[in-house]
This record gives sequence, structure tokens and C-alpha cells, in this order.
Amino acid sequence: MTSTFKPVRKAVFPVAGLGTRLLPATKTMPKEMLTVIDRPLIQYAVDEAREAGIEQLIFVTGRGKSSLVDYFDQSYELEATMRGKGKDLSVLDASRADFGELISVRQQSPLGLGHAVWCARHVVGDEPFAVLLPDDLMAGSPGALRQMVDAYNRVGGNIVCAEEVAADKTASYGIVTPGRSDGTLTEVKGLVEKPKPEVAPSRLGVIGRYILQPEVMQVLDDQEPGAGGEIQLTDAMAKLIGNQPFHAVKVDAVRHDCGDRAGYVRATIALALGRDDLRDVVRDAVGAA
Ligand code: G1P
Repeated sequence: MTSTFKPVRKAVFPVAGLGTRLLPATKTMPKEMLTVIDRPLIQYAVDEAREAGIEQLIFVTGRGKSSLVDYFDQSYELEATMRGKGKDLSVLDASRADFGELISVRQQSPLGLGHAVWCARHVVGDEPFAVLLPDDLMAGSPGALRQMVDAYNRVGGNIVCAEEVAADKTASYGIVTPGRSDGTLTEVKGLVEKPKPEVAPSRLGVIGRYILQPEVMQVLDDQEPGAGGEIQLTDAMAKLIGNQPFHAVKVDAVRHDCGDRAGYVRATIALALGRDDLRDVVRDAVGAA
């Protein structure tokens, strides 16, 4: 579909987080390198971004996170050995970044999601961009970001992915004050980070996919701390409302919160049940338990 809006070519992956909810697994390994079936979480997010037309992957990393960048490099010794043995190298295709496709910047201190996104400002420049939080594994076809880009091509502006969250879980999410809605697309009238259920404006929670206009970086320049003393992306987005179109979109995909033990196990089982080579094994194992 042709669109009058500037295309979304860049995606920011904030991957500097410590992953404390999954310790000790994440003591020496980035949580984004945890494997669901046969690929790390970061691969799912990168695949989804590429499918949505993203050309530049911007990783906001931190100390101890270098393996995320290495993962997308060429593995010279492995590839030479495999080639020598006549093995099929296509299994590695998606894990290789094109020359110049991947850029990483550092977030030296864990000052919040808004701060992490702001660390990418010079690479993002003056273009709309996507943000993908790899903890949220979005299982769907077409992928969640592809569906969001389709919505963006219709309405432009800023778009957050959203879903109805449990009434007692609003304090874990950015929550939308909803305006007019056509079912999947809802106008965003306000945004508040992690409100207690008693004060939450709705149960429409923001999940880890965003399409944002570059002006959000100027708002983030102020570095104002919000909920939890962190520089919140939600607060910066809230300041764009009224000046630019802002929508929440519900996508046709299942969200698995892999930053959490139960969500991570659920993701593994759900994805395995979707695969012809693993379905029977998983059913047997669950049946035997
Ligand atoms: C972040 C955002 C929050 C959003 C959530 C989605 O919170 O701050 O607004 O709803 O991601 O996963 P976190 O999960 O990093 O605490």
C-alpha cells in the first residue's frame, strides 16, 4: 500500500535491562539471548522488524550485553567448518545482519525505558521509528509490527500496541485513556505509566511495540524522571498527545511476556504446539506429567 507518511525504516531495541525477574538464568547471559525452542528472543524481535520493512536495527545495549551484537555477526570458524563438512548454512541466514544493518549504542546507566530510547536519538535522526521490547514475544502472522505499520500507513503519527490487561495488573503497564475507537484502532487521549487499579483510566495496556515520531526525542531531552524515579517513555509519549495523531492498535497476535518465568514457559509450549516437528512430543510430555 502506498502511503503519504514517511516510511518507518528504523527500529530501536532497548536491550540494556538486567533481567532480574529471570535470575539466576540471566546472571551472565542477556535475557534477550534466552532461547525459545531454537532461537533467542532477540531473533524473534528482529525477524518481526524485518518483516515489517525495517532496514536499520538499533540496539541500545549495556555492559555484559555484547553477545547480542556478536550473535548477528558472521561466525567465521563455525561457517568455515560447516562448509568444509558440506552442511547446510541456511539455518544461520536470519542471524546474520547485512553490512551496516545493525548499529549499537550504549546506555551506560539504567535510567529507564525513555532514557534507553533517547540514547538512540542521533541514529534515529528525523524519521519515524519503531521500538520493540524483545521480552514481549509476539506470535502472529503477519507479525505484530507489520500490522502496526499497516495501521500507521492509514493514520500516521504515533501508534502503540495495546491489549486489555487484567484489572489488578494495571500497575505493570502504561495505560491508555481511550477516545474514539473503531474496534482495533483507538484514539489515545492520555497515557499514564503503571497506575494502581483504583486510578487507572482503563484496562487498555501498552505492550512492547511502538511506532513513534522523532519529536519524542526532544521531549526526552528534558530527562524528567517519572514513575519509579525512571525516565519513562510513557511520560514523553503523553506530551505528544494533542500535537500529533496518537492511536493504540490491537493486533491479531498472541503476546508472551518472556521477561517472566510463567510467560517464558508458556511461550515455549505454545510455539512448540504450533510446530509439526514438536507438537506430538510436547503433548506426550504434558500428558505424562
Ligand atoms: C515497559 C513500559 C510500559 C509498558 C511495558 C510493556 O514497562 O514502561 O509502559 O506497558 O513495558 O511491556 P516494563 O515492562 O519495562 O516495566
